[in-house]
Amino acid sequence: MSISFNTKKITLSTLNSSAAVIFYRKGKLLGPAPQLDSDNAGYLKSLVDKPRTKSKTVQSIALENKSAGKFCRFLLVNLDDKNLNHAELKSFFAKIASAVCVLDNKDLTIFLDDVIQETDCSAEAVGAQLAVEFQRAAYRYISTFGKVAEESKVSLKRVSVTQTNTKHTPQLRSGLKKGAAIGDGINFARELGNLPGNHCTPSILADKAKALAGQYENLSARVMGVKAIEKLKMGAFLSVGKGSSEEPKLIILEYKGKTSAKPNVLVGKGITFDTGGISLKPGAAMDEMKFDMCGAASVFGTIKALAEMGAKCHVVGAIAAAENMPSGNASKPGDVVTSMSGQTIEILNTDAEGRLVLCDTLTYVERFKPKSVVDIATLTGACVVALGSHATGLFSNNQALADKLLRAGESASDRAWQMPLWEDYHASLKSNFADMANIGGREAGSVTAACFLSKYAQKYPWAHLDIAGTAWKSGAAKGATGRPVQQLVHFLLDNA
Ligand code: BES
Ligand code: MN
Ligand code: ZN
Repeated sequence: MSISFNTKKITLSTLNSSAAVIFYRKGKLLGPAPQLDSDNAGYLKSLVDKPRTKSKTVQSIALENKSAGKFCRFLLVNLDDKNLNHAELKSFFAKIASAVCVLDNKDLTIFLDDVIQETDCSAEAVGAQLAVEFQRAAYRYISTFGKVAEESKVSLKRVSVTQTNTKHTPQLRSGLKKGAAIGDGINFARELGNLPGNHCTPSILADKAKALAGQYENLSARVMGVKAIEKLKMGAFLSVGKGSSEEPKLIILEYKGKTSAKPNVLVGKGITFDTGGISLKPGAAMDEMKFDMCGAASVFGTIKALAEMGAKCHVVGAIAAAENMPSGNASKPGDVVTSMSGQTIEILNTDAEGRLVLCDTLTYVERFKPKSVVDIATLTGACVVALGSHATGLFSNNQALADKLLRAGESASDRAWQMPLWEDYHASLKSNFADMANIGGREAGSVTAACFLSKYAQKYPWAHLDIAGTAWKSGAAKGATGRPVQQLVHFLLDNA
């Protein structure tokens, strides 16, 4: 499924792929396009002057490449007069990639020179984003179809990027390598997210972790089941899985691309299905609660990307996996449980389960003496109300860490927006029967959820990413997005 990328010096006479991307800007043909145009009686220029397709960005045409004596499909792409910043570059490459992926075509050449000249991004960032968008466009969910239609498969296998000016080639090459790995990680996270609840239980996630660890030398996986979780006295975590016949799992992935350094830790919410428990959710769109393990999926994807590119960093992923079900064994509203930290919690709503599995995992990861801990969770519907699907909600007890994550989000065009964690909000978690309640009332739901978590993250710099709005799309394009894998990879590469 994954595409391979390379840089090569290619001209029209050595062009042997069956498709190629060429550019024009402000009505002027670029790179090898003028030659091709004059070999074809001005046909390209006529398309520039008067596009014959609805899309003003990409026109696809089969032409004879006379220099090589064969036909080739050219994608004639309009660079416009845009000053391609990172976000524009991303959507621009995404458009080209999706136009390429509908073709039945195995290899592609991109005459890239002009794009590098037109953007304020580095050649490395251009290469990386190109690879990310091609990987992303080539992903298809097929795992649970009985038969897969031939036309829905993507044929593209190889992308060669060529420039006349080779000055940027080393940077471009390293960017392509990084981007290919990030795209792979994003697609892995999407795949895990998209799997239905009965195809992605805590035990299945645990097996995926072991399989992933088997693929990379510096990666190890350790899985703890209910006995070990009991032994750790994770009473909050256990209270969530209790109603399900699926055993909860605490999964530890450790990537040691560099051994000496203290690790950055990622904690993922891995609720493989969230019915709400006894505080049952309404039926409409409940299927989307299979995506409630997208935080965990982003930890898998991020670590896979780092391992794939051989990043020199030390990262621990801790995934709290459980299924939240109603049953005769399930936790009830009003139950009080004791967390691993010793703090007691009154479960006023069994649907606020994410914070219960996360709080014990946040205590557990103290043992790694982390440089930082970032948890990633589809935690609250309130975050979707606050920020919609554009920005991930960011909360932190350490502004330097928050700033790093915000910057990483910008540089990846996978943005987060910081929300407050002020003491003022903490009062709403007060309980008459325990040290705290697991919900804080109607107002500021994403903030009070983060306040709850902050009580378990006092021993290290900590940030919480609420990805409830960004992790998946609803409607016709329903599916996991793979966010915030790219943000996390950028953050970890910048802070190894
Ligand atoms: N997984 C949900 C959050 C969620 C809901 C994400 C809808 C995306 C879309 C979480 O476990 C949950 O149910 N949260 C409750 C908390 C409430 C009971 C305080 C919510 O947001 O309604
Ligand atoms: Mn819930
Ligand atoms: Zn949930």
